[in-house]
Amino acid sequence: MAETDPTPRWWALALSEQVTGKAPLAVRCGEEEVVLFRDAGGVARALEDRCPHRRVPLSLGKITAGGQMQCGYHGWTYDGATGKCVAIPNLHDDEKVPERYRAETRGVTERDGFIYVWIGAPQASAAPLPPSLYTPGGLREHRGSVTLPLSHDAFVAALFDGPWVLLDFATSRVTDFLLGDPEMSDGWLMLERGATWGGPHLPDRFVPEWPLVLRVTVEPVTGETLVEMLDTNERLISAAEVSAAPAARGTTAVIWRSYAADYGGPAGLATRGLSMAGRPAISVRRFVNGRKLASLRIAPSHIWRTTLRAARDNAPAQRDTAA
Ligand code: FES
Repeated sequence: MAETDPTPRWWALALSEQVTGKAPLAVRCGEEEVVLFRDAGGVARALEDRCPHRRVPLSLGKITAGGQMQCGYHGWTYDGATGKCVAIPNLHDDEKVPERYRAETRGVTERDGFIYVWIGAPQASAAPLPPSLYTPGGLREHRGSVTLPLSHDAFVAALFDGPWVLLDFATSRVTDFLLGDPEMSDGWLMLERGATWGGPHLPDRFVPEWPLVLRVTVEPVTGETLVEMLDTNERLISAAEVSAAPAARGTTAVIWRSYAADYGGPAGLATRGLSMAGRPAISVRRFVNGRKLASLRIAPSHIWRTTLRAARDNAPAQRDTAA
């Protein structure tokens, strides 16, 4: 996939809390620039971030009291559902806004705290969202967003090759010991690694049998990822949903949510205690250590990249289904 030409898909481009009726939010996916906002009913709306009048970014404007997007340059105002221009300042009483004046709408939907935008041919935006693997839970959910200085492809590959480079685990330590080959199921690619209790608040002991399993499940095209820390009986300790989109100049925009599950024992209590105190059980690092990234083993990523490529070759199925 070219970084500037994302595969037609639903892409999670914002957290629900980031999209409001107070200020527009500019997001992008490759070359597609989109403005997000909520209308008067609280429904998320998405328009191409270009005013049809003079191509000024609509995100520089404001949201009117009626929940419509007003361009900041000459004040043309657009309805979020239809894109239709509904008001032009200084029109005479006997003049009407021409029907052809309208902003480009984008398909937009919301699920589990993420705003998904359809990137691709607009008529295909009836395609269903891929099934969700993330179920928000725990006593307290954390969330965040960050733009990282590595490409989307490199970000997704690093999630497989060395998730500890991109993710911070509050009470566990992830190893590079793979518990099996990557598995493809229903369009998701899944990989498991051994992990131990550890981190700054618990002793980090090496043990020959891994007490924990880190399961990383990725939608290979978009890189939408479910991260789960489990014990060896498959009991959930913590979970995170991570979404990434190709941003400008080879960077990647990442959004995430995570929580500590209701897991017993001292280690589970520590994980939940830290979470309640404000330290997420799993979070995306705000900075990537280039030396650690460069030192990740290359051999496993060959397998992942082959599987990724095959998945991407099949990606038009979603578009065809919807067309
Ligand atoms: S450029 Fe937007 S109203 Fe003129």
